[in-house]
Amino acid sequence: MQADFNTNLVDIDLIPDGKGPPFELFARWRREDPVHWNPAPEAGSYVSKQAGAGLDQGFWVLTRYKDVDTVSRNQELFSSWLGGPTIWDYRGEYLERQRAGMMGMDPQRHIRTKRLVTPVFTPRVISEFEPNIVRVAGEIIDSVAAKGSCEFVFDVASKLPVYTFCELLGVPSEDRDLIFDLGNGAADTESESRDHEAVVMQLVQYGAALAAKKMESPDDSMMSRVANGIVDGDRLAPEEVAMFFVLLSIAGHETTRATATHFIRLMTEHPDQYALLQSDIDKYLSGAIDEVLRFSPPVIKFRRTATQDTEIGGYPVKAGDKIYLSYAAANRDPEMFPDPDRFDITRANASRHLAFGIGPHVCLGARLASLQLKHLLKQVVTRIPDFRIAGEPRYLRTIWFNAIMHMPIAFTPEGQN
Ligand code: HEM
Repeated sequence: MQADFNTNLVDIDLIPDGKGPPFELFARWRREDPVHWNPAPEAGSYVSKQAGAGLDQGFWVLTRYKDVDTVSRNQELFSSWLGGPTIWDYRGEYLERQRAGMMGMDPQRHIRTKRLVTPVFTPRVISEFEPNIVRVAGEIIDSVAAKGSCEFVFDVASKLPVYTFCELLGVPSEDRDLIFDLGNGAADTESESRDHEAVVMQLVQYGAALAAKKMESPDDSMMSRVANGIVDGDRLAPEEVAMFFVLLSIAGHETTRATATHFIRLMTEHPDQYALLQSDIDKYLSGAIDEVLRFSPPVIKFRRTATQDTEIGGYPVKAGDKIYLSYAAANRDPEMFPDPDRFDITRANASRHLAFGIGPHVCLGARLASLQLKHLLKQVVTRIPDFRIAGEPRYLRTIWFNAIMHMPIAFTPEGQN
């Protein structure tokens, strides 16, 4: 669909039809109305498939880097807890469920939980795990390299995050396919074909059962450390451990696979940049991954709620107002990134992108995601280098993620190039 100044961001067709976030619309708002009021959709025009997820309030859309940055860093004034971290208007038990997850916790509980889970994401723990990532990335490419074609999203991009997640959390290998399927179902928030609520409940139950098992027989896994960890003489409640499991199963899958898929798409769209990357992969790969995250961030937005009357960038905001933190818009702000619509893997400050958020709720898995992307994409670029897109990419139907669900690719089979 064609976006104009008054386009409503909750129009469900906007992202799949427009093939990603509406960058031109964000650029126009940033120039003319940088803290833009997006009204609630007309009654009945937006019906979410997620239980309890209404949309009856309008919200402020932040399109400048500095506003997204400032608001994200200030939990006291702009809360992730008050209305939850996502744009939907949850109430009652549904809102409580949002608040039980890390992203929606009140600041005290959030600090406590972060102290418990951060040690399992330290550089040391993640680098101990790196050889597993390298091995699995190699196995994934082994499974397609001789074929000459594959469906990149499910045959390649989605496998590494799920296997990594299962190994790190201590999910038995026979349950991987189940977790793979449930994680996909949970991220697909507008699914026409699946009962979203039932999928999330299955994940909650699985997480609770796994936590109980790890409490009975502790091991080295992340789930065991979280379920048995003690902070200030206190441990997480069983439902908090289960929600941690659910959060990771959604937060780590969809985002990492979307980034790998956008990487392939962007390299085929910018052959000069791809040639540069191939000329010295070790030199350019991590800058290229940062530039993909800047240029096409997989999470379009999160939400905050103002706790008192205040202002953002000179616009008055009332207590209770919802705020849409547009990472996609912030990453294209020319004040921060000169010539922002140019895809440039040598961009000096690409790593300042906000694709992982910023402030107290910044992504805990950023290092892990970057490591997975590095090893998987290195295998792709070196073993099946002449990949090309062999069918129209299909975008996920959602107002939240910038994700491709289906993207066939073709390449010269390994050994014949
Ligand atoms: C390219 C991949 C990824 C992207 C783009 C991404 C993006 C984000 C963003 C934007 C947030 C901030 C939410 C907010 O401020 O409200 C976040 C939080 C989070 N992410 Fe990621 N994520 C990625 C991968 C991962 C992975 C692999 C994991 C773990 C396995 C993970 C775990 C988390 C957790 C636990 C939080 C909540 C942190 C908190 O609330 O304190 N993410 N992520």
